[in-house]
Amino acid sequence: MSNNFDLTIIGSGPGGYVCAIRAAQLGMKVAIVEKWPSFGGTCLNIGCIPSKAMLYASEIFMQAKHNFASLGIESDNIRLNLAKMMAHKDNVVKANTQGIEYLFKKNKITSFSGTGSIEGKGRVKVKSESAKEQIINSKNIVIATGSVSANLPGLEIDEKQIISSTGALSLDKVPQNMLVIGAGVIGLELGSVWARLGAKITIVEFLDHILPGMDKELSKYFLRNLKKQGFDIRLSTKVSAINKSDNGLIITTESAKGEGKATIKADIALVAIGRKPFTGGLGLEKIGIELDEKGRIKTDKSYQTNIENIYAIGDVIRGPMLAHKASEEGVVVAEILAGKAAHVNYDIIPSVVYTEPEIASVGKSEEQLKQEGINYKVGKFPFSANGRAKAMLAADGFVKILADATTDRVLGGHIIGHGAGEMIHEIALLMEFSGAGEDLALTCHAHPNMSEAVREAALALGDGALHI
Ligand code: FAD
Ligand code: NAI
Repeated sequence: MSNNFDLTIIGSGPGGYVCAIRAAQLGMKVAIVEKWPSFGGTCLNIGCIPSKAMLYASEIFMQAKHNFASLGIESDNIRLNLAKMMAHKDNVVKANTQGIEYLFKKNKITSFSGTGSIEGKGRVKVKSESAKEQIINSKNIVIATGSVSANLPGLEIDEKQIISSTGALSLDKVPQNMLVIGAGVIGLELGSVWARLGAKITIVEFLDHILPGMDKELSKYFLRNLKKQGFDIRLSTKVSAINKSDNGLIITTESAKGEGKATIKADIALVAIGRKPFTGGLGLEKIGIELDEKGRIKTDKSYQTNIENIYAIGDVIRGPMLAHKASEEGVVVAEILAGKAAHVNYDIIPSVVYTEPEIASVGKSEEQLKQEGINYKVGKFPFSANGRAKAMLAADGFVKILADATTDRVLGGHIIGHGAGEMIHEIALLMEFSGAGEDLALTCHAHPNMSEAVREAALALGDGALHI
């Protein structure tokens, strides 16, 4: 087999594997290097997919325990079989990662198993324990090596008592008390999983609000909702020490300003304080690839690094650490290499927090619009006035659409409610077409549906919502 390729991608996460498929579809001879035993990166193996499998299963468990009776379904003696729930998650991961293998074969993409490093322009070395070193010659190289969990200084993550998201997806028993450090997306999603399965969750967050970056009205609403769900959330607080004892962990906290010490006892502590780009072992220093102050690979608008023909995409470069953002960049790089004009619209990248209620956002928040001095109007509609939501015991939450006060052009959409992550896309599509609130308000929506609340919020931007 000749090791000469048009494109070699290092890392098979949603950035790398999607880039490989698109490039192959566009006629390139493509190689992909992956050091893990299965393809799909963080997203498929230890991120998006396993977390959503656990969120779904734990949600059904909670529904069965608390909501079935009010729907007239008698279900005595609902019990958790955690091993089976974990098996469900593992099967979902396997099916998805095998799906990537199939797609690589279908698109005639050659995979190399091992750690890739860049030896020089157009040369990638692959090192694995089982096979001898191989050199790949490639016209272009894309680095898609993703990110890893960040940690607190001096803390050892043993993935048993002090865990990252990876450990939190594989616990073999439900902890009685779980401390979550960080009220960001991982803390709230995985905190929700274990709360639903019976753990008492305490969350320590450095800032004075949860889910930084999210529209504040939603983040405040969700904070109240989480407290009702039984979460103990301590804002403006940081962890100063974690001591292991025979009876579990003793955690010392203090205020963000360093005052007022308190202790918390827990069986498990989940560290969810963000993720950092991963470039270890790539040999970037050797070839002089530049990083920014946060350790991310610097690229130009075409994703090219400071070295010609070497590109980077996904979590390892700037921008939100989201699977679909990585994939968008993968497609765009493949298209640029094929001589097409392509770009990612960073203003319209939806983000979803898969809790209950779910939270979904696209475009600008109110805080951003204020900061940018844009004159805007707000259209809102609560799910408590939506028939389908009431029928599904899902009346929590609301839709909020932000539009330019003069032109009516939609600038942002924010939904908190059951299934928000599905509903957000009609606002995203509208924004891609530079649509106005009136365009959405004039679009007939099937009844009864939760999406009618999206249209009602658009109507509220104009002459008024109908059902409130
Ligand atoms: P990654 O997916 O991190 O893939 C990088 C790959 O490169 C890995 O397979 C790694 O083994 C490989 N690699 C690294 N170095 C080398 C090397 N030198 N040689 C060979 N291979 C190498 N995002 C969402 O959009 N939605 C979600 O619901 C969501 N849920 C998440 C839940 C959790 C618990 C976590 C941790 C993350 C979640 N994310 C979610 C974020 C998402 O997983 C990442 O944004 C996404 O995976 C980034 O894709 P990537 O291709 O840049 O890198
Ligand atoms: P995050 O950035 O979302 O949240 C981290 C939280 O920890 C922040 O609220 C921050 O203020 C807090 N924090 C930081 N240092 C702290 C400290 N010392 N003490 C207390 N709190 C501290 O990061 P998270 O949740 O780890 O997720 C990482 C990334 O993974 C996210 O940025 C997101 O892009 C991605 N992700 C996306 C998901 C989705 O799209 N549904 C799901 C899970 C992860």
